[in-house]
Amino acid sequence: MNRARILLGVTGGIAAYKAAALTSTLVQRGATVDVIMTEEAERFVGPLTFSSLTARPVYSSLWDAPERIPHIRLVREAHVVAVVPATANTIAKMANGIADDLLTTALLAARVPIVLAPAMNDAMYDHPATRANLATLRQRGCEIVDPERGFLAERETGMGRLAAEERIIDALERALARRRSLEGKRVAITAGPTREAFDPVRFVSNGSTGATGIELAREAALRGADVTLLLGPTLLEPPPGVCVVRVTTACELNDAALQHAVGADLVIATAAVADWRPEQRSESKVKKTDAGVTVRMVRNPDVLAELAKKKGTSFLVGFAAETDDHEANAREKLRRKHLDAIAVNDVRGERGFGTGRNALTLLWGENDRRELGTAEKSALAARLLDAIEALMRER
Ligand SMILES: Cc1cc2nc3c(=O)[nH]c(=O)nc-3n(C[C@H](O)[C@H](O)[C@H](O)COP(=O)(O)O)c2cc1C
Repeated sequence: MNRARILLGVTGGIAAYKAAALTSTLVQRGATVDVIMTEEAERFVGPLTFSSLTARPVYSSLWDAPERIPHIRLVREAHVVAVVPATANTIAKMANGIADDLLTTALLAARVPIVLAPAMNDAMYDHPATRANLATLRQRGCEIVDPERGFLAERETGMGRLAAEERIIDALERALARRRSLEGKRVAITAGPTREAFDPVRFVSNGSTGATGIELAREAALRGADVTLLLGPTLLEPPPGVCVVRVTTACELNDAALQHAVGADLVIATAAVADWRPEQRSESKVKKTDAGVTVRMVRNPDVLAELAKKKGTSFLVGFAAETDDHEANAREKLRRKHLDAIAVNDVRGERGFGTGRNALTLLWGENDRRELGTAEKSALAARLLDAIEALMRER
């Protein structure tokens, strides 16, 4: 926290008093904290509490000194923005891009990581609108420190109590650590499945959704990298601030990779590329008959091996989705394809495919390995990039 510049937004919930304790801890740990309070927050705690703790003015209006354009100045000076507590109302405004007070306007102008710690009554937290708004913000890269189950102001136990201070500080530390760490670096990521059609409506594919590569692209962009995402067919939304190249087949992915990934500082190949494609593709739909059908498959280009041949000074990371002998198979791929590292996951029963949680192990060198644990794919993306960046620095 030493020398960190934190912009803290405090909104109108009962837990606003806890933001004062958090401010005190952050200041004691060496951070410079600027506080923006919403009008509603000032009904719960006085600005004097925060200005005394930070020894800095507290801001609440866009119009106090508009000539200094406070919403832009404050976010430009900050390394990270935190909203603690975050009310359902402010979360909804953020999710919808509403900027009708100093805090929400500053949040819309923020190009630094944003950490939100929601706190509210359990019914408000459970409401589909709040759930959807939080999912939208998470998808955009905000770090949400989920509330906890416990005693609420309504004198009931429920889900919605502000996360413990240490969890909020952990999230802030993570956000500060990853800030701009890939500034000036070019990162190319392949993601998603490929589709290999044998007629206009039928194709061979796999269960990959591209979620891992999308989360890695989001995380790399947050760290300041110039990111190109080569993305196979998926319904998932790619992250903002990333150059997306859409592909369908393995051959298209191979061409796109040779065009966009060669020469990048870091290449991460998460795409689940089909190894074979039907030799023939019928121009019209093959008519159903009672007889079986034989489709002869031919080998697709090995995108990762092609990239490895032209690797130059790029740091090349592969992914291995294995059902048996995970590590032995992944190590063999690491060696054979001359990769710098490989992340391995167990996809038995399609585990690892889709959104949600996954478990990864990173392998490199002769015998080096690091367990990245089991977590949401967004958290795993951050852990994986931390580990890769450390290896890139050592090289
Ligand atoms: C006593 C009281 C406690 C409240 N506590 C919360 C809360 O914990 N979380 C929340 O989302 N809203 C809470 N509200 C509602 C917000 O204050 C209200 O939605 C307000 O518009 C939020 O404004 P802001 O997001 O600009 O700060 C509370 C309201 C009252 C009267």
